[in-house]
Amino acid sequence: MERFTIVESAHVVPERVVTNDELATFMDTSDEWIHSRTGIHQRHIVSNESTSDLATTVAEKLLAQANLSANQLDFIIVGTMSPDYLTPSVAQQVQGRIGATNAFAFDLSAACSGFVYTLSMASKLLATKYQRGLVIGAEVLSKLVDWEDRSTAVLFGDGASGVLLQQTVEDTGLLAEALKTYGDQSEFLTAGRQRNSNHFVGDIVAADPYFHMNGREVYNFATRQVPAVLSQALETAQLTANDIDVYVLHQANARIIASIAKRFGQPIDKFPTNVVNYGNTSAASIGILLDELRATGVVHQGQKIALAGFGGGLTAGALIIQL
Ligand code: ACO
Repeated sequence: MERFTIVESAHVVPERVVTNDELATFMDTSDEWIHSRTGIHQRHIVSNESTSDLATTVAEKLLAQANLSANQLDFIIVGTMSPDYLTPSVAQQVQGRIGATNAFAFDLSAACSGFVYTLSMASKLLATKYQRGLVIGAEVLSKLVDWEDRSTAVLFGDGASGVLLQQTVEDTGLLAEALKTYGDQSEFLTAGRQRNSNHFVGDIVAADPYFHMNGREVYNFATRQVPAVLSQALETAQLTANDIDVYVLHQANARIIASIAKRFGQPIDKFPTNVVNYGNTSAASIGILLDELRATGVVHQGQKIALAGFGGGLTAGALIIQL
C-alpha cells in the first residue's frame, strides 16, 4: 500500500452555463440527440478565465479548507490537456500565484486519464520524503472545440478540481493501480496539433487547435479497457467488484458508465454520475465528482473507492483507494 490521506477536495466551474437547447440555436443538434447518447444536458463554459485561473482557485480553496499556508506544500501536479502555455506549465503558474515557495510543480498530460495518472504519481512522491501536495485536474476545453463541429462540440465542458494529499501512518491510501497506454491508437482522439513553422520552411502553416475524434472507436475502447484496468487493479488488491463502495469514473458519457457497471454486475447506484451538469471536463471530471460525493457524504472515510479514467493517448487507468 502507498499510504496517504485525502485531506480535502475542491472544485470550481465557470459561472456561464450553456444548455443543449442553447447549442441547438446555432448548430444542427437537439437536446434529445445529445442527452439520449451522452447523458449531458448542460456544460459550464469560461468567459475570461484561463486554465491556470481555475486551477489557482482550486488550490486556494484546498489550502483555505485545510487551514494551511502555501509554503507547507511540497509539490503541485496539474493534470491538463489545455494549458495556457507550453511553458510555464499550469502547475508552475499556480505555484507562483499562491506563493508555494517550497513546492516544485509540473503538469502531466494524459487527457481524460489525467486525474488518475496524476494521483498515481503523487502517491509515489508521498511514499518518499515529500509530506504534502496538491493534485489538480484543470481544463478549458472550450478553446479546443470547433464550435462548428457538432460531433465534438456538444461533449465537452470547462472546470477544475483537486485534492490535498498528505503522508500518513494510517492504513489509508493506494491499495492498487493499473495504468495503461495505447499510443498505437492515438489517432482516434487528437487536439491541439502543433505544426512545423519556421524561418526555413517559408510557408507558415496555421496550427490546428481543435478536437478530432472517432467517437465510436473511443466508445468501444472505453467500454473494453476501463473494465480491464479495473479488473487488473482489483486483482492486484485481492478484492472483488463487490468490495468497492463507490466507483468514481471519468465523466464522458453516462452510457459508457452504465455499460461498465453492467459488465461488473454492480448496481448502477455504485457508479454515480454528474455528466448531466458538466459534460466531459477531461482531467477535471473525476475530482469534481469526488468533491461532490464527499460533500454529500456518499464518499467517506473507511470506504474503498475505485477511480477510473480513459481518453486521449489513448490512455486508461484505475486506482483502488482505501479512504
Ligand atoms: N447532434 C445531432 N446529430 C449528430 C451530432 C449532434 N451533436 N453529432 C453527430 N450527429 C450525427 C452524425 O452525423 C451521424 O449522422 P449520420 O448517421 O447521418 O452520419 C449520427 O448522428 C450518428 O453519429 P454516431 O457518431 O454514430 O453517434 P454515436 O451513437 O456513436 O454517438 C458519441 C456519438 C456520443 C460521440 C459516442 O460515440 C461517444 O460518446 N463516444 C465516446 C466519446 C468520448 O467519450 N470521448 C471523450 C474521450 S475523453 C478525452 O480524452 C477527451
